[in-house]
Parts: sequence; C-alpha cells; structure tokens
Amino acid sequence: MIDIGRYIAAGVRGHSAYHVPPGEPAVKLDAMENPYRLPLEVRDRWLHALRDVALNRYPAPGEYERLKERLARTFDLPPTARVLLGNGSDEILQSMFLATSPEVTVVAPTPTFVMYEQIAALLGRRFVGVPLSPDFRLDVEALKTALTRHAPALVFLAYPNNPTGTLYERAEVEALLALEDALIVVDEAYYPFARASVIDRLGAHPQLLVVRTFSKQGLAGLRFGWLAGDAAWIDEIDKVRLPYNVSTLAVATAEFALDYQDVFEAQAQRIRDERERLYEALARRVTVWPSAANFLLFRVGDRARAADVLAVLKERGIWVKDLSAQSPALAGCLRVTVGTPEENSAFLAALSQAL
Ligand SMILES: Cc1ncc(COP(=O)(O)O)c(C=O)c1O
Repeated sequence: MIDIGRYIAAGVRGHSAYHVPPGEPAVKLDAMENPYRLPLEVRDRWLHALRDVALNRYPAPGEYERLKERLARTFDLPPTARVLLGNGSDEILQSMFLATSPEVTVVAPTPTFVMYEQIAALLGRRFVGVPLSPDFRLDVEALKTALTRHAPALVFLAYPNNPTGTLYERAEVEALLALEDALIVVDEAYYPFARASVIDRLGAHPQLLVVRTFSKQGLAGLRFGWLAGDAAWIDEIDKVRLPYNVSTLAVATAEFALDYQDVFEAQAQRIRDERERLYEALARRVTVWPSAANFLLFRVGDRARAADVLAVLKERGIWVKDLSAQSPALAGCLRVTVGTPEENSAFLAALSQAL
C-alpha cells in the first residue's frame, strides 16, 4: 500500500476540506448570498446575450482586456491601476499567496474571513492574526507593531469584515497604508452593502491592492472576482493565474451584469433596509453588532447555547452559521445573512422560539 502521507504536503494533510453542508433548506441564510434573482425579463436578455458566446473557443485575450477596461471605467480606477480577473475572489486570494515568497508573513486582524488563514495553512505559509478589540474594532497600534516585526508582510483587511460586519475607520486603514514595508490587500467583497471603498487611494499607494467580487451583489454562482492595483504587482500575480481561468460564459455574464448595475443596486438597497430592521429586532433579544455588510453577527450565550439555537432553527428549515468554533472571540455567536423580508421574519420567529 502506498503511503499517501509521504506525498501530500503537511499543510494539506493537517487540514480538512472546506465544508459546504449538503441539503436545501427552506430559508438559506448561512452564506451571505443575495436572496433575489434577476427579474425574468433581464434573465431572458442574459440568455440572449449568451447565445453568441463562442463556446468552441478558449477565452480570447481581447475579451479579458475589454472586461478589464469596462471594470476600470465603471469603478473609476486611477489610470495607473491594472486589473486581474479571477474565478471568484477566493482564487485571486490564492494567487496572491502563490505569487508571494514564503518569507512573506501573512497578517490579518482576527477574527476575519477564514480563507486567509486556511490558504496560508494549506500552502505552509506563516499566518499571524492580530486580535480585534472586544467590540471588533481595528487595533492599529498592535497591527503596526506586528507589521514591523514581521516585515515583509502580506496583510488582508476585509472591509467590511466578515464575520463581524465591522467597517473599520477609514483613517485607520490609511494609517496602515502609510507603512512602507507591507503589501496591503483590502478585500471589498461586501462593497454593495457598505458603499465604502479605498479604490480612490490606489494611485497614491502603490503597495495597496483592492479585491472585489460579483458574488455578494447577486452572482455567487457565476464565480467572478477582480483585483486592482499597481501594474508592478498585478503583472507578477498574473504569472500564477492559470490561462483561461475565467470562462467565456463568466466574461459575457460579467459584462452583462455591468449593464444592469441599477438592478443590483435596487436589490442591495432592499437588503440594506432589511438589515436595519433585522438589527433592531435582534437588538431587542440578543447582543448584535452593527454591520456594513449583508449579514449580522449576534451572540446568544455560550457555545452550547449557540449549538442549541442552531439546532432549533435547523429543525424549522432555517440555516444560519455557528461561528463558535472559529475563534474564542466568537464563542456563542451566530451569523445570519439578510434575506427577503419573509425569510427574515421566519428567522426572527424561529429565533424567538429557540430563545
Ligand atoms: C471577505 C470575503 N472575501 C472574499 C470572499 C469570497 O468571495 P468569492 O465568492 O468571490 O470567492 C468572501 C466570501 O464569503 C468574503 O467574505
């Protein structure tokens, strides 16, 4: 029998695969998806647009370039910025790990998006988490100290942060950009719900990269994300990107989506409105943190209590995420994605019963 352990990297062996629970809940509020589909007439136009995609061909360089230019224009990128396209922003994050030297320490304020630490572990990279304050604010001094100690560092700032929903103070992010020896990736996955961005700083700070995704605005199934930054970084990261990583279907759909930003924005507005209603309702029952994203983090008690509440919700067909295991700072915390008004009401009713 072959000893697989001798072949598989230690970081991979020591890890379990990213787990997506099977099943189709009645109310799915565990993955920060937009609950709304596109209107039927828009979907018909999308199908029509896809009719002419040359599926027999690999994506042509010109198609990627056209989409990059379109993104640059739509999101007001400075003229010095270059764009890289990815099969979801997860793939772009992974590319950054692959392109950077093992000597570079990966740093992030924690708790944060689990993939930063997961990818680091899988690829055998050193990860340093700098704890957020008890109310999930950035500890700028501690971060500065860590960045000085661990230079050169690759820093991930989810803006707003997942799973806390916190939008860090812009001045604090700027303070980190003032540091010289750190490559700072600002992950704006939840931009449609926060409408705060540091894209306007790209021209002034060559060590800043901004990553965005189409997932949260309503195209999670598409798997499309993009990265913007100084050409010197983008050209290097582009070398580890696999050829044709973004399909012709994704390119055509992303371009189509850019024509319908008003439709996505109207959906995001409904989600932002519901976020406020959900926050008020939760605040009457549990500890809940303000969120600039499309989800809310709340604490129901200790870990056992969170597991009990999760089980009651699940029995009623409602899925949310238990974050107790992610970090001691999140013990007893659940994260709920903002759904439709009906879904949110069903969740609140079930939560009341569970509590
Ligand atoms: C902060 C953050 N960045 C990136 C992603 C990944 O998004 P994508 O669907 O583009 O891979 C997520 C997904 O939850 C996220 O929370």
